[in-house]
Amino acid sequence: MKLIDGKKISEEIKKEIAIKTSAIIDAGGDPPHLAAILVGEDPASQTYIASKERACRAVGITSSIYRYPADISEEQLLEAVDFLNNDEEINGFIVQLPLPAHIDADKVLQRINPAKDVDGFHPINMGRLALGLPSYLPATPAGIMLMLEKEGIETEGKHCVVLGRSNIVGTPISLLMSRKSNPGNSTVTLCHSKTRNLSSITAQADILIAAIGQPGFVKADMVKEGAVVIDVGIHRIDDSSEKGYHITGDVDFNSVAPKCSYITPVPGGVGLMTIVSLLLNTFKAYNGEIYPR
Ligand code: GUN
Repeated sequence: MKLIDGKKISEEIKKEIAIKTSAIIDAGGDPPHLAAILVGEDPASQTYIASKERACRAVGITSSIYRYPADISEEQLLEAVDFLNNDEEINGFIVQLPLPAHIDADKVLQRINPAKDVDGFHPINMGRLALGLPSYLPATPAGIMLMLEKEGIETEGKHCVVLGRSNIVGTPISLLMSRKSNPGNSTVTLCHSKTRNLSSITAQADILIAAIGQPGFVKADMVKEGAVVIDVGIHRIDDSSEKGYHITGDVDFNSVAPKCSYITPVPGGVGLMTIVSLLLNTFKAYNGEIYPR
């Protein structure tokens, strides 16, 4: 069993990004600028945003956070999106999800200028992804593809089973893994809450991607000997340790890991790659790579 070291891979990529930002600054230019809109006090969202801010600082990307109270109106939030759409100093931005229930998240995401949509959630970027056209890839699926590429994991002709059909992870990663590309060229099965005989399907997976949002859901009997297991879950579990909690994934790591050829740890796996992918998308926005100016 080999652990896929998200920390090592992400640090290498961050070093490359830092070199590029230094070169821009040395030449007298302004570095890329990533902004984030954060509504309310959701603890997981606060953690994500803090990590993104730290990562930006580490590589020299400028970061701004626009914080709004949970009772902001939909109209006010749409105005905040318009403000960032029109701010020429900001190359890309994200609206942190989830949003409070009284706000229509789809409406907000659709208001983002696709050229600044570094999360890749706008229907134009999702549509371009589905068609195999250049687009901002959502950060978590992009991070998974990078991990597979950097580890040199063979995906062609393999059976990839994806657990979870969210717009953020399950749906886009299933499209990417079935693309005519490397990594990619897999035969993909997308499983969800209505899937029957789930264990019999996951047990056929050469590559199993768990993005189901339930801690420790994937048990050893659901996994084939020699499988590659990618754990997308990030759950904070209260415990009696000094910290008062620990972080765990969608996979029951201790029982599953011995069966795997490769597995990603949580923490230290996909989560770190997600952040790096967002930084890479910010650079693409800065360079006008997807939507030339
Ligand atoms: N909430 C959970 N993951 C994400 C993400 O990748 N982007 C945004 N904007 N919100 C999230």
